[in-house]
Amino acid sequence: MSDSRRGESYRHSRAASAARYPSGSGALTPHAPVAGPSIQIDENRYLVSDETPEAGDMLNHSCEPSCGLVGANVLVAMRDIEVGEDLTFGYATCDSSDYDEFECLCGEPSCRGVVTGLDWTKPELQAKYAGWFSPYLSRRIAASHCGETSATRSAPPVHADRMDLAGPPTTLRTRPLIYVDGVVDQGDLATATRLVLGCEEAVIGRLDSSSDNIVSKLSVSSMDRDNSCFFLDGDDVVGMLLIEKDPYEMVTGVDAYTLPWPGTREVRIEALRRGLEVARRHRQESGSSEWKARSGGYVADEAYASVMTELGMTPVRRFYRMQIESASPLIPDEAPALPPGVEMVPGAADDETRRIVYRIDRDAFSDHYGWADYPYDDWWEHMSASPSFTPDDWWLVTVEGEPAAICLLGEGRAQYNEGYVMVLGVLKAFRGRGLAQLALQRAFVHYRDLGRRATLLGVDATNTTGAVALYEKVGMAPVMIMEAYEHALLTPADPSPRPS
Ligand SMILES: CC(C)(COP(=O)(O)OP(=O)(O)OC[C@H]1O[C@@H](n2cnc3c(N)ncnc32)[C@H](O)[C@@H]1OP(=O)(O)O)[C@@H](O)C(=O)NCCC(=O)NCCS
Repeated sequence: MSDSRRGESYRHSRAASAARYPSGSGALTPHAPVAGPSIQIDENRYLVSDETPEAGDMLNHSCEPSCGLVGANVLVAMRDIEVGEDLTFGYATCDSSDYDEFECLCGEPSCRGVVTGLDWTKPELQAKYAGWFSPYLSRRIAASHCGETSATRSAPPVHADRMDLAGPPTTLRTRPLIYVDGVVDQGDLATATRLVLGCEEAVIGRLDSSSDNIVSKLSVSSMDRDNSCFFLDGDDVVGMLLIEKDPYEMVTGVDAYTLPWPGTREVRIEALRRGLEVARRHRQESGSSEWKARSGGYVADEAYASVMTELGMTPVRRFYRMQIESASPLIPDEAPALPPGVEMVPGAADDETRRIVYRIDRDAFSDHYGWADYPYDDWWEHMSASPSFTPDDWWLVTVEGEPAAICLLGEGRAQYNEGYVMVLGVLKAFRGRGLAQLALQRAFVHYRDLGRRATLLGVDATNTTGAVALYEKVGMAPVMIMEAYEHALLTPADPSPRPS
């Protein structure tokens, strides 16, 4: 309970029920509502309840909330909630106007006393609620850390000619990210989130990574915590280097983020240069001349492409993000029926099923770029690292009882109201029978029926098993192109490459 007393007034309660609004029962208004259950969902946009609010319309503020926003109007538990405990959320995660300011009575030791429409601007609340802000506020926060004032500006072209040429600041220093009991510190998570999202905003004009992506990236054990670091100029964090060491694929993954982008070219060069140095050490430790470094980004980021090229990296592979909008007429009305003998077993609750899924994943992708024979435990760690990991939405496809294919859905993009197909793989012996098409169409129907805007997936643009053609056939289209760059890390002792 917070500002409103149980059984008395719910004046400050909010509407945050996803199930309620797609049907059109709530009203969308560009004006701040006078009073009553309502929630701000965008710049000057509010959802207000019907005259008679339903239970889902009335959610109180608390300074230690039990729930948080995913997207603009979906509320999920942020932690375990006791039976009988109130469902509450922090109004700072959605409000940016003064339509509903009040004295808070939540009674939490951390209570800030007064709730206002400017709470989202407070650094301590930005850190506390990193990843839980309504998308329009996440955009504003990222923009404010890029030195931008308008959240709705369009993406500037990120050309190589808009760069600083002065060299990295002489005051530049680094510090490692802080982990407490193996978990990244909340303040550092917020800083990392700002850097990642700020770079995305600078390149593509909007946020792309979800808080899930960032949390899992920072928490997997393959992340090299000794060498990943923030870059500071004075007290300001201006960049981040994330390094991942993958002994199975024999790759050091190097991700460099610097803000404002592309105005920090020299800092970015310094970050990538350090990353390549670490990769050389990894290579030396491994004793394998096959070890390489990889980085990459959006094809639109010409400025970063020029940094990678300058440091000797070469483009090796393009990837498409493909999507189908839920309104597409190509999505069938009903989930297509399963042909005789075919079953789709949802969930991977037990270890035995997970191991079958693992085996199919490894076998189906054995010809794929970046394939490596990860042991089951590493594979499982990667698959389950995301906070919104949902094995209930993993489908194992069997034919006459024999495992044949997997289609693994993930909630990593739910924050953007999007469904995501993480993995689709069919064993060679079962290809060409329509299993992938069947699984995809069922996934599209599943997400459309959940009210998601679209279903997305990522695919190697040069996939050798016809995946791009299959995705286009079922109505998907590329919406984004990413490119991977590699560095072979050759040393003078290595034999010179033969001319091809
Ligand atoms: C890509 C893959 C999932 C396709 O599975 P599948 O069950 O054989 O595909 P389907 O039988 O449902 O194919 C449906 C349509 O896709 C297209 N398609 C599938 N494989 C194709 C191929 N090798 N070349 C060209 N088109 C192909 C066809 O248009 C086919 O339609 P058709 O019946 O009119 O010929 C499977 O080959 C696979 O597991 N590949 C390795 C893993 C992978 O790359 N996964 C996708 C990466 S994200």
